[in-house]
Amino acid sequence: EAETTLSITVVGASGDLAKKKIFPALFALFYEDFLPENFIVFGYARTKMTDEELRNMISTTLTCRVDKRENCADKMEQFLMKCYYHSGQYSSEDDFAKLDCKLKEKEGGSLSNRLFYLSVPPNIFVDAVKCASNKASSVSGWTRVIVEKPFGRDSESSRELTRCLMQYLSEDQIFRIDHYLGKELVENLSVLRFSNLVFEPLWSRNYIRNVQFIFSEDFGTEGRGGYFDNYGIIRDIMQNHLLQILALFAMETPVSLDAEDIRNEKVKVLRSMRPLQLEDVIVGQYKGHSKGGKSYPGYIDDPTVPKDSVTPTFAAAALFINNSRWDGVPFLMKAGKALHIRKAEIRVQFRHVPGNLYKWNFGTDLDKATNELVLRLQPDEAIYLKINNKVPGLGMRLDRSDLNLHYSARYRREIPDAYERLLLDAIEGERRLFIRSDELDAAWALFSPLLKELEEKKIAPELYPYGSRGPVGAHYLAAKHNVRWGDLA
Ligand code: BG6
Repeated sequence: EAETTLSITVVGASGDLAKKKIFPALFALFYEDFLPENFIVFGYARTKMTDEELRNMISTTLTCRVDKRENCADKMEQFLMKCYYHSGQYSSEDDFAKLDCKLKEKEGGSLSNRLFYLSVPPNIFVDAVKCASNKASSVSGWTRVIVEKPFGRDSESSRELTRCLMQYLSEDQIFRIDHYLGKELVENLSVLRFSNLVFEPLWSRNYIRNVQFIFSEDFGTEGRGGYFDNYGIIRDIMQNHLLQILALFAMETPVSLDAEDIRNEKVKVLRSMRPLQLEDVIVGQYKGHSKGGKSYPGYIDDPTVPKDSVTPTFAAAALFINNSRWDGVPFLMKAGKALHIRKAEIRVQFRHVPGNLYKWNFGTDLDKATNELVLRLQPDEAIYLKINNKVPGLGMRLDRSDLNLHYSARYRREIPDAYERLLLDAIEGERRLFIRSDELDAAWALFSPLLKELEEKKIAPELYPYGSRGPVGAHYLAAKHNVRWGDLA
């Protein structure tokens, strides 16, 4: 039986994502023996470059994660020898036909499966897909295409993009990445919930008071202002990363762990969400600030951002799921750039213990006596549960303690990057962590009307200093729903 070669083409090979994430992830998979025996990697971009130059470029980004094993340099060399480069235009069928010739040559007449990773700006998505699919598809095996957001900027443009892609590919060839789904703790969310009796029965309005999804970065748009200004934080983080996690968190028990079963449940949650109103969100934008003799630029100080931009770099939102499990439970989201800390977490605040015998300990602030489960996605992955505990001693005083699962203390293995898992899944045809078109549609349906209104009314964002905890409006929004942000408590 003839061997099959796996050919991976990174379209947009000289871009940031390719250098920082895709090539290093491919190498990590190779290093850990997850790639098939026969594989080749092609970089494709407009820049003129030789194979050697591509290898030099990516060699600076590769690392051997596992304790710097001795064979690291050898492995890098072996990997780099499988990397090639082809320069071409993204909209030229001829150039892709030439790529096809080179691919065939390197595949050496074997059967082939071909994976294209489109790491290019959205305006050339469709052209690149068209050329790749018309001229460089595999004739003997599968052809799959990984695409990264932005998948449009509202319902209409997203549907149009899907329609265009579908002219050249079928849904099962399209792998829409949301890299948050590849994060270790996001994968673990279902395990935690569905395989622990101390959690599974509690997962509803009966025991959960509110859920918070928090994304915070301690740097601004730094050079990405041009891209960012067209999208803003709601499209950049909420509509995809945070909403995907929310859907996974809140879905009903899927029939099985199959991709279709899981995505069916996720899409049901998305479709059950109450439409977002203007009063459900607050938006913010960071302004310049000096601290300790250093000055930090404001968002509009970025030369690629218009001076009068009202694009939000921070947003908080209150969402509700209209179904029997979650009726009335606020799901709060908060996402911001240029804040005081880099962190992403899920916080689950539980209800009060009815008739709590120890309530005197907490004075009038009974909210302080409720349990809180925290999944810290990054950095420093951890799961901890805040409980009330007796302070040791002869008296009777309670305090808040943590039952703490700290990944770095418990597991010696380093955690793989999200792109490793997602690339491996795409190679193996596992679709569980990729976004199906109906999910995408439902996610846009939730946010599009709100975005339209924010933009038509040019709602002015509340300014917050670079490096601060964000606009106070976020507290008022939470307070309106009787919620306190767990990360600031
Ligand atoms: C990307 C956003 O999707 O996610 C960026 O476009 C953001 O703005 C990034 O910085 C954050 O990813 P991570 O994995 O570093 O938290």
